[in-house]
Amino acid sequence: MTVAVDRRPRRVVLVGFGNVGRELAAILVDPSPYPGLHGLNVQVVAVTTASRGTIAMPEGVDLLAALRDIRTTGAFAAAHRVPSSTLDILASLDYDVMVELSPLSVPNRGEPAISHVRSALERGKHVVTANKGPLAWAYRPLRDLARQRGCAFLHEATVMDGAPVFSLARHCLRGTSILRLEGILNSTTNFVLDSLEKGGTVEDAVRRAQQAGFAEADPSLDLDGWDAAVKVTALANVLMDADLRPETVPRERMTHVDPARVREAPRHGRRVKIVAEAVRDGEQARARVESRELALDHPFAIARGTTSVLRITTDLLGTISLTEESPDLRTTAYGVLADLLALPA
Ligand SMILES: NC(=O)c1ccc[n+]([C@@H]2O[C@H](COP(=O)([O-])OP(=O)(O)OC[C@H]3O[C@@H](n4cnc5c(N)ncnc54)[C@H](OP(=O)(O)O)[C@@H]3O)[C@@H](O)[C@H]2O)c1
Repeated sequence: MTVAVDRRPRRVVLVGFGNVGRELAAILVDPSPYPGLHGLNVQVVAVTTASRGTIAMPEGVDLLAALRDIRTTGAFAAAHRVPSSTLDILASLDYDVMVELSPLSVPNRGEPAISHVRSALERGKHVVTANKGPLAWAYRPLRDLARQRGCAFLHEATVMDGAPVFSLARHCLRGTSILRLEGILNSTTNFVLDSLEKGGTVEDAVRRAQQAGFAEADPSLDLDGWDAAVKVTALANVLMDADLRPETVPRERMTHVDPARVREAPRHGRRVKIVAEAVRDGEQARARVESRELALDHPFAIARGTTSVLRITTDLLGTISLTEESPDLRTTAYGVLADLLALPA
């Protein structure tokens, strides 16, 4: 689907230049394989990182050179670097959109990403985030601030990468109330369960998931259920107007799931899955992350490997499901691009 061309480029600050930031930059450098991006008119004016330096150029950062410098030396070239912190850049630079691509921090309850988002919104700048922390720990105040300042606060890449979870709810579920959200939301644990079912071990499966690039060097965020708890909290806060926090969501850890139970279940026509769920409860919502034994033809049971599924139960439309098959980094970068394309004129 092509889009109308923006006349003036959107001046963008990228906060974070890791896996997602670099994938996004590579697409911006050469969007020609994707004719649907024809109308995207973006000029990156600054890129900030934790340890590789910060570059800021009002006339537009040379993303090709930035990618090359990171690939060859691991850092931005000294000649292009500025000694400013991310918050300095967000508070002083002339830009239109802040794109938040720094890592999720559970111990810091979503910071410093929450401060990055607040800083941009306070200056009346649009925000696009792939980082779930601001939704899980500070959604209401940030949403209200965005409304007050007349800014967009978009976050499509936070849950299920680029699959249109939030835009589906925003545009296609008008008039409904969401009663229940349930899903397979964590790739690593889903991959580990597949491997256990075939007789493998958690350690071996995690090693293979790390080699394939979708599990973190420290996989405890996934195995301890934090990633799924943060995602289901983000979904409930945005889609059910809940006010949950990940630390109040009961989590069944992958390491507490008995491998023998996982191996045995198919003999009884069942499959063990880790399901994240949020249920409306009056004006509030309850959420949890737990293992369940599901019939082999259940939509969650057929989601193998890194595939994610979300079922949304509404009062008027019944239940609909969204499946994201084998996502990769480009899928996440697409979530960010979709938000950039959705910004108001
Ligand atoms: N990877 C995926 O497929 C995926 C999918 C959906 C959502 N997400 C979310 O997208 C975000 C980015 O993921 P990623 O895989 O690109 O992470 P990543 O590879 O760990 O990269 C994170 C980047 O953020 C930088 N950073 C850290 N603290 C910062 C700060 N205070 N100010 C500015 N930059 C800072 C890091 O700097 P250094 O380079 O110096 O370390 C790095 O460049 C995360 O929140 C993640 O949860 C990722």
